[in-house]
Amino acid sequence: MTAVRELAFDDLFKFNRIIFDPLTEVYSISFFVSRLIEFPMLAKVAVAPNEQLMGFAMGTRIINEDVVGDGNDSRVMGSHGHVSVVSIDSDFRRLGLGTLLMDGLKAKMEVDGDWYVDLFVRCKNQNAIKFYELLGYVKYCFLSKYYVDDYGYEMRLPLSQDVEGVCLKRKVNVIEGFYSAGQEMLQLVRVVMDRLKNAIMNML
Ligand SMILES: CC(C)(COP(=O)(O)OP(=O)(O)OC[C@H]1O[C@@H](n2cnc3c(N)ncnc32)[C@H](O)[C@@H]1OP(=O)(O)O)[C@@H](O)C(=O)NCCC(=O)NCCS
Repeated sequence: MTAVRELAFDDLFKFNRIIFDPLTEVYSISFFVSRLIEFPMLAKVAVAPNEQLMGFAMGTRIINEDVVGDGNDSRVMGSHGHVSVVSIDSDFRRLGLGTLLMDGLKAKMEVDGDWYVDLFVRCKNQNAIKFYELLGYVKYCFLSKYYVDDYGYEMRLPLSQDVEGVCLKRKVNVIEGFYSAGQEMLQLVRVVMDRLKNAIMNML
């Protein structure tokens, strides 16, 4: 059985097992503390019956200044939610916990009237990209050299305020699309070459 509750300060001393994962962005303790103080309702943790932390997700709210519509119709896209981190302990993946935590953040952002949710993900983190796509997120733009060692995507999910999907109107353009496809091809060629090299080395 799993309980989902708000992340508490002392959880920050218990979640090393979760954050020391190669695909989880590791932030400083001050990052977590400041987000926790500012957005306590957007920090959730899934806990096992023995109190072990199974996974957590943290979000923030960002005030927008983008104008929607024109003329008399103009309004400001008030705010959007941002998922700063979601990570599940490797022992508890593919049990629906990631979905549960992401749905919890989304529900809170819906209630608060945010227009959309966005997040950043590494290009090479194909499993997470698939996971987000299943939750309805779409690749919004390609982020060249966003990470020290990788490219990234911003992914967005319109919320019910954004009936016309305005937040996706300036979605990834063709050049960025080709560029990102090129990067993925390059990545694939590198992996194939590495595997070939290892196979040859093993034969010698
Ligand atoms: C990505 C992550 C958060 C997913 O959490 P999770 O609890 O395992 O996800 P769920 O069980 O809710 O998965 C829902 C669906 O997403 C897809 N999915 C999730 N993980 C997947 C994987 N490793 N490979 C392929 N599909 C995957 C599946 O379709 C899955 O449904 P299914 O299990 O019925 O097939 C988790 O794998 C994780 O913590 N990864 C390391 C950290 C990370 O990458 N965080 C995101 C950084 S941006």
